[in-house]
Amino acid sequence: ESAALWGGRFAGGPADALAALSKSTQFDWVLAPYDIAGSKAHAKVLHRAGLLTDEDLTKMLAGLDELLADVLSGAFVAAEADEDVHTALERGLVDRLGAELGGRLRAGRSRNDQVATLFKSFLRDHGRIISDLVLDQVNTLAEQAEKHLGVAMPGRTHFQHAQPVLLSHHLLAHAWPLIRDLDRLADWDRRVAADSPYGSGALAGSTLGLDPQFVAVELGFTNSSANSIDGTAARDFVAEFAFVCAQIGIDLSRQAEEVIIWATKEFGFVQLDDAYSTGSSIMPQKKNPDIAELARGKSGRLIGNLTGLLATLKAQPLAYNRDLQEDKEPVFDSVDTLEVLLPAFTGMIRTLRFNTERLEELAPQGFSLATDIAEWLVKQKVPFRVAHELAGACVQECEKRGIELWDLSDEDLAAISPALTPEVRTVLSVEGSVASRNGRGGTATDRVTEQLAELRTRATEH
Ligand code: ARG
Repeated sequence: ESAALWGGRFAGGPADALAALSKSTQFDWVLAPYDIAGSKAHAKVLHRAGLLTDEDLTKMLAGLDELLADVLSGAFVAAEADEDVHTALERGLVDRLGAELGGRLRAGRSRNDQVATLFKSFLRDHGRIISDLVLDQVNTLAEQAEKHLGVAMPGRTHFQHAQPVLLSHHLLAHAWPLIRDLDRLADWDRRVAADSPYGSGALAGSTLGLDPQFVAVELGFTNSSANSIDGTAARDFVAEFAFVCAQIGIDLSRQAEEVIIWATKEFGFVQLDDAYSTGSSIMPQKKNPDIAELARGKSGRLIGNLTGLLATLKAQPLAYNRDLQEDKEPVFDSVDTLEVLLPAFTGMIRTLRFNTERLEELAPQGFSLATDIAEWLVKQKVPFRVAHELAGACVQECEKRGIELWDLSDEDLAAISPALTPEVRTVLSVEGSVASRNGRGGTATDRVTEQLAELRTRATEH
């Protein structure tokens, strides 16, 4: 006899080639505990609808608990002939309770509403795990920012020296995108929580008077699906989750790229901790930023998981199609990837040592104080277009003579413009430059201190 859940109208079992293609237990087994939780909730609504006696329900719940224990201990595993996790667990239940009682549980549900619900439960749990790991990364950036408050570094645009900024300001600029990722996960969770598909059946609901909202609440959702077709056929929740994972990967990759560059001999901005860097099998001197490189590489994988998923979903007619079985592996992979990447990445950032002297020394180089000259002139009522020209002329003069802006003498300045009085020197220092950018969101130390507090408050919301 075939182990399939659908043997009745078939003369024989499936061809081996079909069974091999169709099989999903090798990856959907992780849903087993969620499937059993769903079954317990479903047993309760069958009981409430008068389809299971009190005694049936008691035995059913005990049988499901026993099955769960056996799944968790490894005593119960998928058999070769099991098509998917749902098939295997029904077999396990029938083994434990007999076909008479075990065979009653499937009434009024389909693998279509089951799998959509379980997948949501699985992702909600892992969304929380990932959220906690991202939060660790945010807090680590905040700690490094706090530790280095007041240290200036070259701020860049187009990767060229632009204006001096505080190292803390730069580090926190990597934390805010992660805060938004946390917001995205929370927002995603709220939406998913209000949409439990259990009770949608194959696509049209059930004739048995079952209460989907009861099941929803039992499973930790806030409501059941408003539309049973949508409940079983929609997978935008998977794509959205995969997007947030990909965005987290991209946000990490931007930090990673900087760590890789900063750790070079040429930059010399940071030193990686021994425990979070690797060596070379041939070059004894090497200390490599492998964690950062893996983060950069894995962000490509996370993007691939998202785009593959979107391609699978595109143009599928309603309602459930077996194509949808392809929704799981990519996002399982995204979950595994982030859950292994984030702890290593956070450790790397936590143990990063900054060469603050070098950062400070380079901060004003590359004429990064030129904007300060222009804005100082504006405060002397010079129109910005003129001020920009004059500051540019200062740069040109310095470049010609191979000196820095603060090396220009009073006479040099006056020769460029009488508006450039010696007082301009007050802004020709990194401290002055940084301190004067004191509007909300600016790099002045006081503002960055406030920003740090604001970030920490936002972090506690997650
Ligand atoms: N294993 C399937 C999935 O992951 C669920 C089974 C639905 N199969 C079916 N013939 N309706 O999507």
